[in-house]
Amino acid sequence: MTQFALASVTLDRQKLLAILAPMVAEADFAVEVYESLPSTNQKAWNAIAQGAKPGTVIIAERQTAGRGQWGRQWASPAGGLYLSVVLEPNLPVNCGYQLTLATAWGIATALGDLGVPVKLKWHNDLILLGRKLGGILTETKVRHEKIIHAVVGVGINWANPVPATGIGLQSFLSQQPLAAIDCLETLAAVTLQGTISGYKFCSPGGIDTLLPSYHKLFINMGQRLTVEGQNGVVVGISDRGELRVRLDSQSYNFSPNSEICLPPGAVSLGYDG
Ligand code: BTN
Repeated sequence: MTQFALASVTLDRQKLLAILAPMVAEADFAVEVYESLPSTNQKAWNAIAQGAKPGTVIIAERQTAGRGQWGRQWASPAGGLYLSVVLEPNLPVNCGYQLTLATAWGIATALGDLGVPVKLKWHNDLILLGRKLGGILTETKVRHEKIIHAVVGVGINWANPVPATGIGLQSFLSQQPLAAIDCLETLAAVTLQGTISGYKFCSPGGIDTLLPSYHKLFINMGQRLTVEGQNGVVVGISDRGELRVRLDSQSYNFSPNSEICLPPGAVSLGYDG
């Protein structure tokens, strides 16, 4: 694995703010950049408690208690991107998954537009060459059955060390003849733009608008798997964000049309390599 000197990959605050300036001016973002935080998601919640508006963006050079899916830790040394965005989606309580799917799709699309062939692994993973490039952690606060606040946290591997199932974008781009993203600061801008565009794309029409586009980048389509001893094949994502699996043979245990829907976390789909 290629190693990079951290001095060349750490976040330059002034450069980051300069690169984000046009977006900030156009869309009324409030961007806060920190050298070190326990978690950008937690900082975003603290900011909400103090009256932060939607469009508040928290970025840290490193995190000491980065949060991953299912209560896992997200290792967050310098060299990676750690970014959280405050949203006020006003979605029904059970629709928080839409934020994860929409923002993951938006980021994958923004990177794809720059020649980075990012795919989506159900339900929150950004995948490059079959390996995990990054992930989304959406956290929500509910009142009267509505999501009144959401924090969408994005972690993307740039030049930080990654596990065997991971991939860093900087090393991928170093093999490409023309790399549109040449620094962590540009990656932050592209990620923020993708996050917001995915959110806006999904907002008016909801999940039905998003799913056809999401499916085009969906890496698990056609993947074979075994669920409670039954073999089946992945046929898509349902409008509730579940994994749709068509079973090879009917079973009394499952629905009569032999298709089952699995909620996020019910099955692990693995990585290449
Ligand atoms: C996953 O488990 O795949 C999701 C990881 C999300 C990590 C990001 S890093 C920025 C934000 N702050 C956190 O504490 N977590 C998210």
